[in-house]
Amino acid sequence: MGQVLAVRNLNKAFLSEKGTSVDALQDIDLVVDENEFVCLLGPSGCGKSTLLRIVAGLEHPSSGSVVYRGEAIEGPGRERGMVFQEYSLFPWRTILDNIGLGLEFSGISAEKRRRRSEEYLALVGLERFGSAYPHELSGGMRQRAAIARALANNPDLLLMDEPFGALDAYTRILLQQELLRIWQERRKTILFVTHGVDEAVFLADRIVLMSSSPGRICRTFSVDMDRPRKRKDPRFGQLTDTILEELNAETLAGGESFSPV
Ligand SMILES: Nc1ncnc2c1ncn2[C@@H]1O[C@H](COP(=O)(O)OP(=O)(O)OP(=O)(O)O)[C@@H](O)[C@H]1O
Ligand SMILES: [Mg+2]
Repeated sequence: MGQVLAVRNLNKAFLSEKGTSVDALQDIDLVVDENEFVCLLGPSGCGKSTLLRIVAGLEHPSSGSVVYRGEAIEGPGRERGMVFQEYSLFPWRTILDNIGLGLEFSGISAEKRRRRSEEYLALVGLERFGSAYPHELSGGMRQRAAIARALANNPDLLLMDEPFGALDAYTRILLQQELLRIWQERRKTILFVTHGVDEAVFLADRIVLMSSSPGRICRTFSVDMDRPRKRKDPRFGQLTDTILEELNAETLAGGESFSPV
């Protein structure tokens, strides 16, 4: 199995408004292999979004190296698709035109664009909503459209920043199942940020735990359970509890505690 992503000795400091330096990420080492599904889990402010944005090429590290398939990441690229933490559809474009946005930028013909956009619309179960506008869709549907948009560019590495964070528990579980199906069918590599321990145990091959101030990787868990995973499987509960304990121990100093979902 090849390495898709290799992050070595990564540090990121931001300059605050007052001019002081804030260490967002410290000594991050992370390797993601071909077709692997890795979840990043950690308290608010531990640098999860910053790490994803660096891998997406939207932010530069202060030091260290970030390598995608053997090449240093210098900026954004279509082979790395991002689904952002907040809904990010353009309100003045229809759902179909939102999905085709990246394809438009890369100069693909209108007819090909429409076919490709329709294919991904169907993949996320929104066939009937191509001509709707984002405000006409529910939160879950908008998030599906954002996922379809990222997938329509056929990225090799999918970077997902709490894509289901704002959804109700039921929709979240449905979209988790759908994402696993797409990942298995399309053989993607996924780096997925979440606050939900349960979500990480359901989805990931490997769970990377981060702690805050400064953001560091404190532990990694392999999830050796066949899919589809059952939440009532005792091993599911045990791993969730172990990770929760670890996270609470790590984050108590930061005054945060974790909920299981
Ligand atoms: N552009 C910026 N300028 C200054 N500080 C920033 C900037 N972006 C992030 N930070 C700081 O870096 C740290 C990490 O932020 P980040 O958004 O990566 O956290 P996070 O783990 O994604 O949090 P959440 O779970 O709440 O989304 C925080 O202390 C934040 O204030
Ligand atoms: Mg974030």
